[in-house]
Amino acid sequence: MHNQHINSIAIIGAGTMGNGIAHVCALSGFPVRLMDRSIEQLKIARQMIEKNLKRMAQKQRITPDQVHSTLARIQSYTDIKQAIVDVDIIVEVVPEQISVKKAVWNEIEQEIDPKRLKQTIFATNTSSISISALAQELIFPENMIGMHFFNPVPVMSLVEIILGEKTSEKTFKTVERLTSNLGKTPIRVHDFPGFVSNRILMPMINEAIYALYEGVAEKEAIDQVMTLGMAHPMGPLRLADFIGLDVCLNIMKVLHKGFQDDKYSPCPLLIEMVDEGHLGNKTGHGFYTYTV
Ligand SMILES: NC(=O)c1ccc[n+]([C@@H]2O[C@H](COP(=O)([O-])OP(=O)(O)OC[C@H]3O[C@@H](n4cnc5c(N)ncnc54)[C@H](O)[C@@H]3O)[C@@H](O)[C@H]2O)c1
Repeated sequence: MHNQHINSIAIIGAGTMGNGIAHVCALSGFPVRLMDRSIEQLKIARQMIEKNLKRMAQKQRITPDQVHSTLARIQSYTDIKQAIVDVDIIVEVVPEQISVKKAVWNEIEQEIDPKRLKQTIFATNTSSISISALAQELIFPENMIGMHFFNPVPVMSLVEIILGEKTSEKTFKTVERLTSNLGKTPIRVHDFPGFVSNRILMPMINEAIYALYEGVAEKEAIDQVMTLGMAHPMGPLRLADFIGLDVCLNIMKVLHKGFQDDKYSPCPLLIEMVDEGHLGNKTGHGFYTYTV
């Protein structure tokens, strides 16, 4: 099964993950069309990419020329129709709500040049939504695939590649090769709730929250058991703060609903903290406190 050549990439959504994905695609030499409905977010994304590239140059991992050439490869758009002109793959990186993602894919199908629709790959960076469900109403569901990057994208080498029920082997091969060309490691997985990454990570985090909730140990102690005893680079409670407690709760709900198994019930302490708006690093309060 042959893979198809990728010449240019559109990225829809320029938030935390979108700007990181734009960074690695452009640094690897691909022309990138970065789209967000917020012009302000596009400016922030560009500043972030520039800052991160300059940091890499300071560490002599790239040259100052690469900083400029990488930035020059990224064009910004607020109009989705313009953003997807002549691209071979569209990577959707909008918020983790099925209605939002479906609306974006419907708009893309309406706005794309009909002659290109059959050959364009539709990739989604979802952390937990079913690829088959997202592909359900598409004209070419075989072109839809999960391309799950990890945060921070320029640093993390894994990309979990998720095949939906109808994803073609050609689509997989093309995305697998693209991922390698981005300097990342593609790992093939199937479309089950939480895929592999969150199916294993989130119950571990939820269990750490239960350990705190039930008074097994203080938060620092729980994290130290995992950093010192299991060689995890970061304890689960600090990691939960970094990911966002609202994101952790949503993924636990996806696992609970998807498997219909109470072993995935979110810990009451997690629910309470999210209700109180303590979401981790981004709000300044989670299991630890942060300056925002
Ligand atoms: N943050 C993480 O650690 C992480 C890790 C892996 C995967 N993900 C997944 O990546 C996706 C994006 O997450 P994020 O953290 O980057 O979110 P984010 O909120 O930082 O960014 C989302 C961006 O999408 C834009 N947007 C919203 N609706 C849009 C639309 N209709 N058209 C164009 N742009 C639109 C927003 O303006 C925002 O800039 C989610 O599916 C999430 O589950 C996130």
